[in-house]
Amino acid sequence: MIIGGRTWPKDRRWIVAITLVALAAAAWYVAEWRELGRLPGGSSRVGLACGIAGGAIILFELLLWPRKRVRSWRLGSAQSWLRAHVWLGLLAVPLVLLHARLLFIGGLLNQALMVVFFIVIASGIWGLVLQQYLPKALLEQVPAETIYDQIDHVARQQCQDVWRLVDASCALASGDHRHEAAGDDADDGDHAVVTGFRAMTGIQGRVVETLAVHAVIPGTEELRRRFVTEVRPYLLAGRGGGSPLATAPGAARFFADLRAVIPAEAAWLVERIEQACDCRRQFDLQARLHRWLHLWILVHLPLSVVLGVLLAVHIPIAFNYW
Ligand code: HEM
Repeated sequence: MIIGGRTWPKDRRWIVAITLVALAAAAWYVAEWRELGRLPGGSSRVGLACGIAGGAIILFELLLWPRKRVRSWRLGSAQSWLRAHVWLGLLAVPLVLLHARLLFIGGLLNQALMVVFFIVIASGIWGLVLQQYLPKALLEQVPAETIYDQIDHVARQQCQDVWRLVDASCALASGDHRHEAAGDDADDGDHAVVTGFRAMTGIQGRVVETLAVHAVIPGTEELRRRFVTEVRPYLLAGRGGGSPLATAPGAARFFADLRAVIPAEAAWLVERIEQACDCRRQFDLQARLHRWLHLWILVHLPLSVVLGVLLAVHIPIAFNYW
């Protein structure tokens, strides 16, 4: 959920509403504090009201889970649910604090409840912050974005495409042999079908091109060697392999070195290889951003279930002691 922009008026309404409720609860709490001469606890009038409201909010927050999974629920749009989830979740913080005697509480269960509650809130805020920045970063820095689950497959395909060109165009050192397997049905002897990512009129996207395969370029043994030993492993494994090609400056140095040892006629091929490495770096970044965008929920969701369970234990115990 993105806060601000077109939906800002809706968020502003929520912010005003939860601020007013939080201020009213705080004012009531202060009034009762004065009246009692000590901090009102969870069983005071204000404490109980805040506890009931906070508990109801937590229950509502938990309902987001079935709401996301049971598509047939037609109660409001996903966006409205999420907006209510975020703002009511934040309102729960002052309410729970006032219910919990501003955290001057004893008892293991109560303390565990508070710790889990604050981790759930903190992870929710963290997830929301990530949602403000990462999708934009993905759009701007990963124009070659592909389906996350297919990153390995697309990277392998791209590696194979470039290898086909290198194999057909580079001279063989003694002991090397040409890899027939590098070609496939898409190629005939003089052309190779390759996929790549190009910027055209400001938009970058995936393109499939049929390239004329040049005759073998003399003096390119080193290019073939370095492709096989350094570039290909990187294109296949990505940054996990610890290659210098995994960073833009490392790649810039690598290709500057490479250009110094290849004939000018092979410049187009080096450019192709460089593009493929750039694309692989984008896939690596996409995978990283994707993990950041989704990992926090692995804290938020299970702990919110733990919170629900602790709350279900807390309520009857608290009423028992009342
Ligand atoms: C006690 C308080 C809270 C509870 C029990 C709770 C629980 C949940 C649950 C059960 C989900 C659904 C996860 C899923 O099905 O994938 C969820 C998602 C989420 N929560 Fe919370 N949450 C709480 C507070 C908050 C707060 C305070 C924020 C932010 C300020 C927040 C932000 C989010 C976000 C961004 C999602 C992901 C929604 C999406 O992108 O689909 N949560 N939460």
